Amino acid sequence: MNYSIIGSGKIGSALARHFARNEIPVAIANTRGPQSLAALAKEPGNTVVPQTLQDALQADCIILAVPFGSLHSVASARPDWKGKLVIDTTNAFGVPLEVLGDSPSSSLVARTFPGSRVVKAFNHLPAALLASDPAAHGGRRVVFVSSDDATASETVAALAGQLGFAPIELGKFADGGALLNVRGATLGSLLLQNLVQVGEVAA
Ligand SMILES: NC(=O)c1ccc[n+]([C@@H]2O[C@H](COP(=O)([O-])OP(=O)(O)OC[C@H]3O[C@@H](n4cnc5c(N)ncnc54)[C@H](OP(=O)(O)O)[C@@H]3O)[C@@H](O)[C@H]2O)c1
Repeated sequence: MNYSIIGSGKIGSALARHFARNEIPVAIANTRGPQSLAALAKEPGNTVVPQTLQDALQADCIILAVPFGSLHSVASARPDWKGKLVIDTTNAFGVPLEVLGDSPSSSLVARTFPGSRVVKAFNHLPAALLASDPAAHGGRRVVFVSSDDATASETVAALAGQLGFAPIELGKFADGGALLNVRGATLGSLLLQNLVQVGEVAA
């Protein structure tokens, strides 16, 4: 599977650096074009590859690290999202309730990228903490993963593990995923929780 990150701001560059540290190739794109991404291309290993948005949207797995309000613009840059695995890092801060409707924000993202398999992940930590070494306090920093597609959730959990995190799958957007959801002034109770998994518990 190949990967791209759309957005090179705080979250996009934090994730790009984790790909670089783990020598996993990843493309990255923003609105300003590949020349604006020269610093990330110099990360050790040269695995971070600046691309145009159009080229980055060819990847099998596309990580959305753009403001919630930019999602429609990204979605409209491809005629078809069928078969794509989309990782939603967005939080719907400031998004009016009439835009969200009754759904968790990732359900709205899934409707915005029809045909794709959407997984919410990497959204619950402040960017500086997400950027820091996931090996912390004798364990690995937890990232939460939720999706209405169990296989896609498993795939993204495996990626989070490859990047050095301890993934915890929460299930569907409207079930466990609600703990990661932002809706108006209501924050899911796992948002901003800095958890570290220490060791494995035998079953
Ligand atoms: N910051 C946090 O602590 C934090 C924590 C958890 C989750 N999040 C979520 O993560 C997402 C990104 O946040 P951020 O703080 O990384 O934002 P940011 O620093 O403002 O960066 C946003 C990036 O998105 C790019 N972008 C915007 N519209 C685009 C489009 N149509 N096509 C391609 N690229 C586009 C921008 O491109 P240019 O560089 O060319 O302007 C920029 O690189 C947000 O949805 C936010 O809710 C943020």
